[in-house]
Amino acid sequence: MSLPTSWAYWRNVCRTETVRISSAGSSLNALDEAARDQSAGTDSCTSPDDRALPSQTSPGSRQFKRMPSILTTQCNARLSIIGAGGHARVVADAARASGRWDDIEFYDETFGQERDSGGWPIVGTLDHLLQQTPSPGHQVIIGSGDNHRRRALQTRLQEACWDMATVIHPSAIISQNCAPGAGSVVLAGAIINAGAGIGDAAIINSGAIIEHDCRLADAVHVSPGAVLCGKVRVGCLSWIGAASVILQTLKVGQQSIIGAGAVVINDIPDFSVAAGNPARLISTQARAA
Ligand SMILES: CC(C)(COP(=O)(O)OP(=O)(O)OC[C@H]1O[C@@H](n2cnc3c(N)ncnc32)[C@H](O)[C@@H]1OP(=O)(O)O)[C@@H](O)C(=O)NCCC(=O)NCCS
Repeated sequence: MSLPTSWAYWRNVCRTETVRISSAGSSLNALDEAARDQSAGTDSCTSPDDRALPSQTSPGSRQFKRMPSILTTQCNARLSIIGAGGHARVVADAARASGRWDDIEFYDETFGQERDSGGWPIVGTLDHLLQQTPSPGHQVIIGSGDNHRRRALQTRLQEACWDMATVIHPSAIISQNCAPGAGSVVLAGAIINAGAGIGDAAIINSGAIIEHDCRLADAVHVSPGAVLCGKVRVGCLSWIGAASVILQTLKVGQQSIIGAGAVVINDIPDFSVAAGNPARLISTQARAA
């Protein structure tokens, strides 16, 4: 049966007449290398200031265009999760709880040695997925907590015209005007309040609170129980540790790490690690995982 598909899918199909995916160069190792290269200082990150996330309801905005992808995905659709580790299983649970996908499966390098992970079937490797032609109703998402790896894999899949899912656990509370970006997950009990913007490939983990008007760039991970007070900005690929608090209006730069339990009371520069209460810089050469 042919299912309605998303705006994002058909946009990609229009751009690329024929989808021909070579398995050469598509291995996870190659992607890891690409991620490492990106983190070496020439990253194409834009800061939240540079890449202001528009208010979500304005016509023509990025979020507005993404809406059809969320609204037109039907039950009976298929979700392929890249990875089969702990985070991938959490994403699978959230996807199942949302009721938006009937078929949920893993693609992982352990295919051949493992048949399933936590009861979810492992049906192939990433290369197996990339050898398929994207089809209506079939979405993918990256089940990795490593920010660089997640972004590199997402870029590779989008270049191959795959439609990235956005997975939202039904117990998450999200302001009606907020549409987390493609490939993002919002897990159980998380709260995202009015005016907040969440980029692509982000993880808003269990019980995290993103207060009003926060701006999170692409591939950010906010760990369980972290609290971002109002108007906080977080640069791409940064990792906010579990149960940390970032006071209102502060800025965390790109590819930085905030330690578990930290209370951040000052801006944190790019590529830094900060921890403690009050948070102090413990490194200025971070590579956020
Ligand atoms: C901040 C963090 C990334 C540092 O890791 P690291 O680079 O391996 O640092 P180390 O363990 O070598 O510690 C370096 C110093 O920072 C201190 N430190 C590390 N983490 C700290 C934290 N969360 N709070 C306070 N101090 C911390 C250590 O005590 C050590 O101090 P010392 O030099 O005086 O002995 C890590 O400890 C952390 O908090 N990670 C977040 C974990 C998390 O939230 N997981 C959720 C996953 S969903």
